Amino acid sequence: MVFEPPLYLDACATTPLTQAARLAMDQAQDLAWGNPSSLHGFGLAALESLERSRWLAAELLGTTPEAVHFCSGATESVHLALLGLAEAFARPARLVISAVEHPALNAAADQLRRRGWQVSTLPVDATGRVLLEPLQELLQPPTRLVSVIGAQSEVGTVQPMAAIASLCRAAGVLLHSDAVQLVPQQPLLFDASGIDLLTLTAHKLGGPRGIGALLVRPACLPLLKPVLGGGSQEQGLRSGTEAVVLAAGFAAALQQRVQWLASDQANALRQRRDVLLAALLAIPGLQLSGPDPAHQERLPHHISLTAQSATGQALSGRRLVRALWHQGVAASSGSACSSGAGDSAASPVLLAMGYEPAQAAAGLRFSLLPDTDAQQLRLLPAALQAAMAACC
Ligand SMILES: Cc1ncc(COP(=O)(O)O)c(C=O)c1O
Repeated sequence: MVFEPPLYLDACATTPLTQAARLAMDQAQDLAWGNPSSLHGFGLAALESLERSRWLAAELLGTTPEAVHFCSGATESVHLALLGLAEAFARPARLVISAVEHPALNAAADQLRRRGWQVSTLPVDATGRVLLEPLQELLQPPTRLVSVIGAQSEVGTVQPMAAIASLCRAAGVLLHSDAVQLVPQQPLLFDASGIDLLTLTAHKLGGPRGIGALLVRPACLPLLKPVLGGGSQEQGLRSGTEAVVLAAGFAAALQQRVQWLASDQANALRQRRDVLLAALLAIPGLQLSGPDPAHQERLPHHISLTAQSATGQALSGRRLVRALWHQGVAASSGSACSSGAGDSAASPVLLAMGYEPAQAAAGLRFSLLPDTDAQQLRLLPAALQAAMAACC
């Protein structure tokens, strides 16, 4: 059996450009292609388009336009947040991050480490949820900054951001969150969230690749310093001629996604995910990894599993992904950024959750698009069983 057209179940990796984003970008490309810093009409048209995108993004995310700083994506945004804030402190202090961050955030933390900062890692439980007690203990000097991923991409864990924010607030410690996976799946109002800095990216929610944003609470703005020098765009925080066309696509995609989240369709997708999950868990050798959606917070479009053979041997997630693609199914092993080599590479996220190395190489993820329909999903369990048989 081969899915024709192929079945795309890798929304956590990226999403196709929506029609709304494409239209907005075409329009901006035609009418607002100038440089927003130019003083003539072409520049003014570009500036107007850029500020309209900023205003729309701010309104959709429950904040003010001054909080929204466009940049090239989440990788840049997390570096600006961590390295830019570190500049505010006269001497190196302590950064606390969770054990299940994206490699981009870990890389920014490593840079701080090389500058003399202490970096402490917050442990997670067996479902990938950060533990609040150790956080409480770490929220004392020299801790100045905490960064916690809003929702974990590999295992779908939605972190208790409200509780984390109130602990950080009470301790006077700044909080950044990589909300790349959270924003496309759950309504989020930045000003009410208690989070000081928030990272998001357009390509996970139907927008174009190459644009994201760092939201910054007004009180933190004077603390944040640019990482790159140049033309001082984006309130002096992010130099480089602004990507007006991409910003238009980002704002349009965000608008469509926020409207979708408020609709019955979002709930219907969650139900389709639950039906699929039940069918997959009926297959011998498959186990859920991450939170059980029946009891805990989990991204509503997300399924993560570990796989083993009938004899109890862990199956390589990467091999399963390739075997699924032979049948036209696009999934992810969830260990694209892994330690170890080749098909037996263990996922650092699963290791942090307490999995043995062999099991930590057996992760498999399906993440649904808003328009993935039940009919398409009906044949997935049989395809996965065939893939497992091929990998034994
Ligand atoms: C949680 C998370 N953070 C950061 C990134 C990096 O995003 P970008 O591709 O916009 O740099 C990703 C993308 O894979 C992600 O899933």
